[in-house]
Amino acid sequence: MTKPKVFVTRRIPEEGLRLLEAACEVDVWPEDLPPSRDALLERVRGVEGILSMLTERIDAEVMDAAGPQLKVISNYAVGYDNVDIPAATARGIPVGHTPGVLTETTADFAFALLMAAARRLVEADAFVRAGRWKTWEPQRLLGVDIYGATLGLVGLGRIGRAVARRALGFGMRVLYYDPAVPSEDAPAGCSPAALDTLLRQADFISLHVPLTPQTRRLIDAAAFAKMKPTAVLVNTARGPVVDPQALYEALSSRRIFAAALDVTDPEPIPPDSPLLQLDNLVIAPHIGSASRATRGKMARIAAENLLAGLRGAPLLHRVGVAGD
Ligand code: GLV
Ligand code: GLV
Repeated sequence: MTKPKVFVTRRIPEEGLRLLEAACEVDVWPEDLPPSRDALLERVRGVEGILSMLTERIDAEVMDAAGPQLKVISNYAVGYDNVDIPAATARGIPVGHTPGVLTETTADFAFALLMAAARRLVEADAFVRAGRWKTWEPQRLLGVDIYGATLGLVGLGRIGRAVARRALGFGMRVLYYDPAVPSEDAPAGCSPAALDTLLRQADFISLHVPLTPQTRRLIDAAAFAKMKPTAVLVNTARGPVVDPQALYEALSSRRIFAAALDVTDPEPIPPDSPLLQLDNLVIAPHIGSASRATRGKMARIAAENLLAGLRGAPLLHRVGVAGD
């Protein structure tokens, strides 16, 4: 029997690749940069499975370029806004993703960003390396306190809840805005709030929503206008949830204290973005789930989702299935 052909859009950790190579004819895009649109359309032709990253737009054109034998799309991420789900559904193609395994790792990183922005860690590091540490100074690099502060979580799904657990350990008060989570379903210590109230009361605002038409630009100029001047915004969700121009204005005018981003709009952020000139911004290149262990687990799940789809079996984690 000939093995099914699959296209993997970047080298994923061995744990996943080995599983695929045992059962499939695997074409792995070998470069660090993602395939161009043309290369993607070309390489998917005739495959039964696509293992994609969040850097690729997997839409009707890609599915049709692959052909009618395409059986499954497996996204190496928990988010799947890069995949046109209705187009996949219309073609009877299940879409897999990797929830669960990256929850704690991503929550750790959201908390690391929160702390780094609050205590100006990146600025402090640059200060020392620049040879500017001349003495102990009573008023140098003053930040804002984390303990006792109010954290506002926008989105109380898996990652939002994991951030809440960390925050409660730090003695924070936790508010959340999530229309899908009524107060009786909220974990202990998390109080529901209207978005408006959360924006006005929170000292730290951390975003944990998927990117949808409803969440695109949820944090815009009007939202920044409601925040405290000491507020810190943390985004480990998706860049377009925040209006980048409004963010620039809020940070450069000190309308808010600081922001910390793991995601931007566009992504990657252009090297000449004015945001990169600001000292009250901490920024990382979308590495929330980037621990060795977690990326290995994601690779295994993404591979298993792909293999299940090739066999016509239920995916381990299929987008749109309750609980995923
Ligand atoms: C990363 O952003 C993911 O969705 O896994
Ligand atoms: C700081 O190191 C202090 O002793 O206050």
